[in-house]
Parts: sequence; C-alpha cells; structure tokens
Amino acid sequence: MGLWTLDDIPWERFDRTKVDPELLRIVKAASLVEHIGADYAQYLCRVFHDDPAFQDIARRWGDEEIQHGEALGRWASLADPSFDLRAACERFTAGFRLDLTVDDSVRGSRAREMIARCVVETGTSSYYSALAEATHEPVLREICQRIAADEFRHYKLFYGTLKRCLSTEKLGLWSKLRVAAGRIVESEDDELAYAYYAANENAAPYDRRRSANAYARRAYAVYRPHHLERGMAMVFKTVGLTPNGRMSRLATQAAWWVMRSRVARLMKTAA
Ligand SMILES: [Fe+2]
Ligand SMILES: [Fe+2]
Repeated sequence: MGLWTLDDIPWERFDRTKVDPELLRIVKAASLVEHIGADYAQYLCRVFHDDPAFQDIARRWGDEEIQHGEALGRWASLADPSFDLRAACERFTAGFRLDLTVDDSVRGSRAREMIARCVVETGTSSYYSALAEATHEPVLREICQRIAADEFRHYKLFYGTLKRCLSTEKLGLWSKLRVAAGRIVESEDDELAYAYYAANENAAPYDRRRSANAYARRAYAVYRPHHLERGMAMVFKTVGLTPNGRMSRLATQAAWWVMRSRVARLMKTAA
C-alpha cells in the first residue's frame, strides 16, 4: 500500500475546459507504461532471489507504479470518455512484453541494475514534476504532484539499495557511467513509443519512428531547465559524481540544448 490511494484524488474538481489535448495523449501513454510496474517488480524479485526484504520492497514499489497507471488512466477517461484503459493496456502488452524468464539482471549485476533503476526514477520524477507544472487542469496537477513525490521516494529506495550493493560489488566510474548512459539511451526504445501508439494511434500499423517522434515532441516540450538540472544532479549522484558541481551544470546545459533542438525539429516536421 502506498502513501495515497485513488480516493485521495479530488476527482470532483476536474475541469474539462482546462484539458490540453496534447498533454492528454502523453498522459494516456504514461498510464500504460506505469502498469508494467508489476512485471518489473516480478523481474526484480528474480534478480534479488535470496533477499526477501528487498523482494517485499520491490512488490510494494510495483503496486505503487500500478496505482500511478490507474490514476492517470482514470483521469484520461474523464478527459476523453472514449479512452478505455483496460483495452489500451491489452493492446500495449500484446505488442510489448518484458522478458521475465531471466534469473540475473540483464545489466550484468545487482549494482548495475540499481543504477538503471535510479536513472528510471530520475526520469519519472522529473517528468511528472514537469507535467504537474505544465498542466492547468487541477486534478491532473494533483495526480502528477503525488506521483512525482512517489518517484523521488523510489529513487531514494533504489539509491539506498545501490549503496548496499556497492559495499560488496566493486564498480568503477566508467562502468557506472556506461550503465547510466545506456539506460538513458534506452528511453528512446520501443516501450514509450509503443505505449504512445497503443494509447493513441492504433488504427494504423505501428511505425516506431513516427510514434517515437510523436511522443517525444509532446513529452520533451513540458520540461523546463530546472527539471533537467535536478534530474542531472540525481544521475551524477547515482554514479558517484558531485551532484551540483560545474560538470553537472555543463551537462544540464548540453542536455537542455539537445532537448530543445529536438522539440523544435519535430515541431517543424509536424507543421
Ligand atoms: Fe510511476
Ligand atoms: Fe517509480
């Protein structure tokens, strides 16, 4: 059980006039991705097969991720009554499935797995913080604020586990950077693109590039520099570098430039 439930959301304050159709599309996609939390929890339980305490934490974490999906999906159904969360989830999992048959981390070790999880929670905490600030619809804002708080807590949870893993597993800076950078690059893979497709564009055949661009154009547009700054500090902390130093600031500026250029390019192509 998480720190809040769907009953804590003030659904009666929903204001249809403040729904942004562009944000609605990425909220629908996010609601599907969050539901995969159950699969990831199962996977983490296999990776930490001899650690019942962590397995317990992983299952509770998975339940919280599913609740994120339920809250976002319910909001999306309010904003667009034709949106059927269950049907969209089925479409998504029919085309995108995690390999749960592994007994060890696909990253190569438990510490590497925790670095990847920290990067994911960094991404989600920044994204929901940005979404909360981008929307004028009060219920979506509240949902995103609650989810962002959960994601920051998840980061701390995995960061704590990473520290524990690193007490027995030696991992150099370059190895840590490689895992973190690899996981950031993976955010461009099928998971988000296919979720966007399954939630929004399922009449036409799946075109990965088109769906990835349609998603990125809307999702990257909600970020502001302070979201990237905080996210970069979290990634730096994960790999053991100074979170708020000069390197982190330079990396933030570079990431901001790349993100804005990409959004501008995609907007131009879409126009
Ligand atoms: Fe989440
Ligand atoms: Fe999370």
